[in-house]
Amino acid sequence: MSDFTLNGSAVGALALSCAYLLVHTVGETRKLAHIPSVGFNGPLLSYISALQLLWDPPGYLRRAWRTIPPSTHFVKVPGFSRWVVVGTRPEHYKEIAGAPDHQITLRMAVEEFLQARYTMFDSEIGDNGHVAPIREKLNRSLSDLVPEVYDEAKFVFHDEFPLVDERPFVAFPTIVKIIARTSNRILVGLPLCRNPEYIDTCINYAVVVFVMSHILCFIPPFLRSFVNWLVSPVPSRVKKMTGFLQPLIDTRRKAVEDEGEGYEQPASWRKSTGKGDRDIVLRTMSVNFGSIHTTSLSFTHGLFSLLSQPQHIDTIREEVEQCIQDEGWTRAANGQHAVLGQLLEGNAEIRSAGRPHPSLKVQLVSGQRMVMVDCTLSGVFLPKGTMLGTNAIEAQFDEDVFGENALEFDPYRFKIQLPTSTLHTLTFGYGKHACPGRFFAAQEMKLLVAYFLIHYDLKLENPDGKRPKNLWLNAFNMPSSNARVLMRKRKGVAL
Ligand code: HEM
Repeated sequence: MSDFTLNGSAVGALALSCAYLLVHTVGETRKLAHIPSVGFNGPLLSYISALQLLWDPPGYLRRAWRTIPPSTHFVKVPGFSRWVVVGTRPEHYKEIAGAPDHQITLRMAVEEFLQARYTMFDSEIGDNGHVAPIREKLNRSLSDLVPEVYDEAKFVFHDEFPLVDERPFVAFPTIVKIIARTSNRILVGLPLCRNPEYIDTCINYAVVVFVMSHILCFIPPFLRSFVNWLVSPVPSRVKKMTGFLQPLIDTRRKAVEDEGEGYEQPASWRKSTGKGDRDIVLRTMSVNFGSIHTTSLSFTHGLFSLLSQPQHIDTIREEVEQCIQDEGWTRAANGQHAVLGQLLEGNAEIRSAGRPHPSLKVQLVSGQRMVMVDCTLSGVFLPKGTMLGTNAIEAQFDEDVFGENALEFDPYRFKIQLPTSTLHTLTFGYGKHACPGRFFAAQEMKLLVAYFLIHYDLKLENPDGKRPKNLWLNAFNMPSSNARVLMRKRKGVAL
């Protein structure tokens, strides 16, 4: 194709996208006219508000929130491709999450913001069949899995930090690799979890989903399938993953036949989902997508917060040392007094860091759902097709609940367990769709914090020791991806 034709096609596609967005926004604005907006209300002017929001998401929302009369239940927040109707109080999360799935659904919201039909083959997978094995099998096996996570931590730290003297490392990408390895030790087991190409494919897939979903949501729906076919790297990732997973699926299928009941790793989900091998590959990719970056973002936020307030390190370290001395690294059989479960400080440290620096998709607005049939919540009419969410920023920084220092990092703030989901601690969502992987993620993060602190001295590389600045990517709150941490093996501690 000549440059001229290419340029012409690109301009044509852009014009079509703009026209689509405009028509869609005008229609949606009309349908949601009865709901007050944050910023400008008109379809065109709302793009200015969307830009302001993009520039400083938490600041813009916090300022806007103060102008909303207290009796308001829902407001609409502008985006470039659509409005999100947001419940103003945490209680609205309860209302939204409590609605039946056929009325208000998480799945179709994910479908929309991740363009999951194209990026995750959501319509082919067709259900949430992978949630049950996480809840019923993985969560029940957690104590038994600690030795494996610990063993993998040992190996991955040895691979990533072969150090004798102090050495800097770029925290976020290194943590992503560590978490990808330890999570996959449980998801697919040895030796695949140590295959660098497999790990890179898992990590890279999340980036591909993120980029493709942002491209596709600006494309008119009738053209998405074509554009996806033209540019999406997802099918090649599926092919690559199939190459890694097929031998494992075959082996596991045989093992399950031979061994009968036991913990089903994703590679043997065939039995749970009743579908073919491709289905297992897609679900394994989907669970990897849902677990690696979420956990890595939370963990990095926690690590940066802790290292910017190093006065807390000794206390946490002492507690970890005491636990190890009493019961070893392995979680004790009695869950309530399990070693890692006792690390309240460790819990609070991540949880607390998880609040002011929440992970995943923003947590400025959390609990995204799609309205499937016209309905009314708190007396507000919500037409079919509305994207819903809840104001997480107010819920998680509420001074009435958390006191005057609600915005500060306080590792002793929480006395609840890390995976506990409440209307004011929304890192893992709330209600029937609250993250099923949160117990595993919490255990993994605690173990890794403990491993870091026991084996290494760590400090932020920047001379002022201040927490590296977060980056708001749309509504996602990302820890700095290039901040470096100085790390030195502690004297007299065996690795
Ligand atoms: C720190 C790490 C993690 C964070 C912050 C996180 C956060 C979340 C959130 C906010 C939701 C949506 C809840 C809602 O809208 O009410 C969710 C759902 C989900 N998460 Fe996680 N997650 C994490 C780790 C994991 C892990 C390790 C797994 C798998 C082992 C996982 C699997 C899932 C699945 C399958 C869902 C969908 C649940 C459903 O459809 O009912 N997550 N997660």
